[in-house]
This record gives sequence, C-alpha cells and structure tokens, in this order.
Amino acid sequence: MSASTSEIKRVTTHVIQAMKNRGEKIAMLTAYDFSMARILDEAGIDILLVGDSASNVMAGHETTLPITLDHMIYHAQSVVRAVHRAMVVVDLPFGSYQSNSEIALKSAIRIMKESGAHAVKLEGGAEVEESIKRILMAGIPVMGHLGLTPQSIYKFGTYTVRAKEEAEAQKLRDDAKLLEQLGCFALVLEKIPAQLAKQVSESLEIPTIGIGAGQHADGQVLVTHDMLGITKDFKPRFLRRYLELFDLIGKATQAYIQDVKSRDFPNDSEQY
Ligand code: KIV
Repeated sequence: MSASTSEIKRVTTHVIQAMKNRGEKIAMLTAYDFSMARILDEAGIDILLVGDSASNVMAGHETTLPITLDHMIYHAQSVVRAVHRAMVVVDLPFGSYQSNSEIALKSAIRIMKESGAHAVKLEGGAEVEESIKRILMAGIPVMGHLGLTPQSIYKFGTYTVRAKEEAEAQKLRDDAKLLEQLGCFALVLEKIPAQLAKQVSESLEIPTIGIGAGQHADGQVLVTHDMLGITKDFKPRFLRRYLELFDLIGKATQAYIQDVKSRDFPNDSEQY
C-alpha cells in the first residue's frame, strides 16, 4: 500500500512516479532562496525547482543565459538548507552541459556534491543525448525539458507557443520517447499545445510536468514570483496569479515610510 502524499517524509523519484501511476497530479514551483523555499516546503509542494529563471527574477537579466554554475549552486544550497520534504531539482545552466558529455557530468556532479540537491534538469532532446546518458550513469536523476526551452531563445527568436507545426510536434514526441528510454525520471513540457501535451503524457510511463501546456500534463510548474504576483508585468495566458505581492509589498513599504517619517515607528513598546 502506498502512503498518501501528505504522509510522505521525503519526495523521491519513486514517489513522483507513484503519483503518476495512481493519477495524482504533481505540484512543482521554483525556489531560489532559503526563506521562500521554507514556506513552499511547509505548504506541501512536491518538487522545488531551482530554475535558471533565477537569472530573470533574482538577477534581473532579460534571459536565462547569463546565470553561471556557481550562481546556481549558491541558490541550490540556500534552498536545500530550507527543505525537509520536497524533492529539490536544479537546472544545469546554459553552457554547463551543451559542449560535451564530460563537461555535463562534471557540472551535474558539482551541483549534487556542493548543494545536496536531489536531481538536475536540462533542456533539449537528441542533441543532449550523450550528456544525459553520462549523468545518469553516474547515478544522478535527470529531469528533461522540451517545448519552449528558454536557453535557446535566440534560436527561436520569440517566447511564443512551440510545436504548433507537425514537424516540430513530431520531433517533440520523438525526443520525449528518447528521454524516457534514456532513463529521465520526469519531463517538463513548456508552452506547447494542450493536445500535444496530452498525447505525450499518455504515451509516456514517466510523469510530464507542464507550464503553459494545458491540463493533461501529469503535473504543473510555475515560477513562484509569477504565481505570487511579484513580477509585475508578466501576465501570459497560462499564468494564474494567487496573490498580487508587488502591490501588497509596495503598500506595506509606503506604510513603513510614512510611520518612520511621522515618528510613529518605533513606539514605546518597540524599543529597549
Ligand atoms: O527555470 C525555470 O524556472 C524553468 C521552469 C519554467 C520550468 O525551467
């Protein structure tokens, strides 16, 4: 008998697979720092992704390309220190796995050794086959990522929906099968038509985790800063905002400024 997800002490690749097998959806969010990771973990999130979207939301870059392996390890260490239950997956950043499989393996080993994370994620299909094989041979779980792969944004030229044409859709289906055969434990599908995500999810044994890929993926992922409304102007159709934190934090900051200027803060009970 398998334990229900709320009773599980640590989410592992086996737990994730069991969730797909019994039809339970997988909830994944990004995290880049200790405080946020602690909140998300205590709330019961299944997977925390230390995404290279840290390049955008934490460092303010336009793309995910500038973030380095050292930066990713720093963020991953902070997240791992906070987490008791969730599985922590870390993105291999641009340039840390594409050139050859030896470099890919070294990068993945650094992440696992220096951060204590539980798995790595990398973008692409057949092009990165050798790197995936080598990382898996070292015993490191790998999550794939197909569809809109932001590290290739200059090749795509736009953040629009991918695989609308049959040729690209077929390559995605082939890549998804390949990643499963190689031994990836899960697969992110980003910004593809919902029907294609449904086909792929039904054709694979391993779970798919969608972002902008519709309701039929086996799980969902969002960038936490988008979901909480911290990123102000990013409002794509696939995003559901659960808070408007940009505005709430702004209002709290204005109240604080007002209290300081008016000498209301600190009052008698707020001093020694
Ligand atoms: O870096 C990231 O946040 C991601 C998710 C969008 C899947 O890769």
